[in-house]
Amino acid sequence: MEKLLILDFGSQYTQLIARRVRELNIYCEIHPYNHLPENLDEFAAVILSGSPFSVRNDDAPHPDLSQIRGRKPLLGVCYGAQYLAHFGGGEVAPSSIREYGRANLSFIKENEVFLDKIPLNSQVWMSHSDTIKQLPQGGICLASTKDVINAAYRIEGEPTYAIQFHPEVYHSTDGKKILENFLVQIAGFKQTWTPDNFVEMTVTTLKEQIGDEQVVLGLSGGVDSTVAAVLLNKAIGQQLHCIFVNNGLLRKNEFQNVLKQYEGMGLNVKGVDASQQFLEALKDVSDPEQKRKIIGRVFIEVFDNESHKVENARWLGQGTIYPDVIESVSVKGPSATIKSHHNVGGLPDFMKLKVVEPLRMLFKDEVRRVGASLGINPELLGRHPFPGPGLAIRILGDITAEKVQILQEVDAIFIDGLKEYGLYDKVWQAGAILLPVNSVGVMGDERTYEKCVALRAVESTDGMTADWVHLPYDFLQKISNEIINKVKGVNRVVYDISSKPPATIEWE
Ligand code: XMP
Repeated sequence: MEKLLILDFGSQYTQLIARRVRELNIYCEIHPYNHLPENLDEFAAVILSGSPFSVRNDDAPHPDLSQIRGRKPLLGVCYGAQYLAHFGGGEVAPSSIREYGRANLSFIKENEVFLDKIPLNSQVWMSHSDTIKQLPQGGICLASTKDVINAAYRIEGEPTYAIQFHPEVYHSTDGKKILENFLVQIAGFKQTWTPDNFVEMTVTTLKEQIGDEQVVLGLSGGVDSTVAAVLLNKAIGQQLHCIFVNNGLLRKNEFQNVLKQYEGMGLNVKGVDASQQFLEALKDVSDPEQKRKIIGRVFIEVFDNESHKVENARWLGQGTIYPDVIESVSVKGPSATIKSHHNVGGLPDFMKLKVVEPLRMLFKDEVRRVGASLGINPELLGRHPFPGPGLAIRILGDITAEKVQILQEVDAIFIDGLKEYGLYDKVWQAGAILLPVNSVGVMGDERTYEKCVALRAVESTDGMTADWVHLPYDFLQKISNEIINKVKGVNRVVYDISSKPPATIEWE
């Protein structure tokens, strides 16, 4: 299979380069600049990413590219372009003005394949504080903006190209076309990476890898674990043993409904109701991090106990996806931003199983496309993300069975309402939060002193940043009435209008 290598110098945009490349149906992998892959020969071309560093600093990434430059098609982006200039006999200097944001190409050299069909004035996105004053040896300027003369260049006699702006961000209107020109016209990629293709290839590899051994996998009801399970099931059938644990903190009727769906999909799945075990372990615990740790621990106990019942289990299947993998091998090392809430976790020491992760090279949208190609129900694929600790982190303060039940009812009214009003698919994630306050109300002639719930609905692409959704007032009015009328113990509903940052999506 044809592969592109993206060498990461730590830019916030590196993942975006990979996404654009995948959108062009080309397979790519990101590797940190200081760990060139051993199988370098397998990569047909290389892109050098941007970086927060300046090439002029001693501690900046200065890898040896002698195995790459001049030998394979090479494209430097931003820092990558400056790096090729700096070490190729050119000059990189601090910009006299800050070059950040939109700019337009004011010069494009004619008859250059690299800029084929890119119109003059095309908008590009700049984000740099150094500029390429003088091109490297053999450098030919291909494009300029008003402030940046060397916005794009190539090196004579070799397939080396460089651009100062970021083709991967949407603000660079023709950025994807430039990437396509480089990858297809210059590097000769055939664009054969598709979900169907991926399924076929992965099934073959999984069969070889696993042979006749048994695999256990924890299903969560979420998209990733479901797609991983269906893919494994396609490869090894009943050798896959799925375990779906009810921690008692799922949505209303979720355990029964999802279990039924899984069975209908032909998965060999065992539902384990451990609600009591979780609730007992969480008794009187209010601290959010403590809740997460307890839920993680009890889950491992339950899962381990169940997996021991599977005879000859040799493998642990996991629904890990590419952003998690990139995070754990990033230039900066395992990132400090990994929160304890990413409780998917690694392999507990006491389970001596080999790990199989069929989705570890896919982005979330690709997982959905693969799921669709496997024939998984679109409703299941379009489900909102739901946190592992479930309602435990949406019940502020301590957790009781009664509070769980109240919140499940409220949440169900909200989510069903979103579906009924055709709003569910416009929202990235939604849910209800049970607040640890009572407030005064009046129902009939009676004074009430009951619970308050908050509703939260956000738009996002990856959960890292989010904005609250402007749900229609008449919808909010209807939902609020329905909740207060139907859910005993709740007399007030509020809507959360905080964005992330500075707030987070969950309240705990
Ligand atoms: P925050 O609250 O950090 O949430 O803005 C971002 C995304 O992560 C989910 N989330 C979790 N997922 N275990 C999970 O599996 C957790 O402990 C957890 N906490 C937050 C949250 O639902 C949102 O999608």
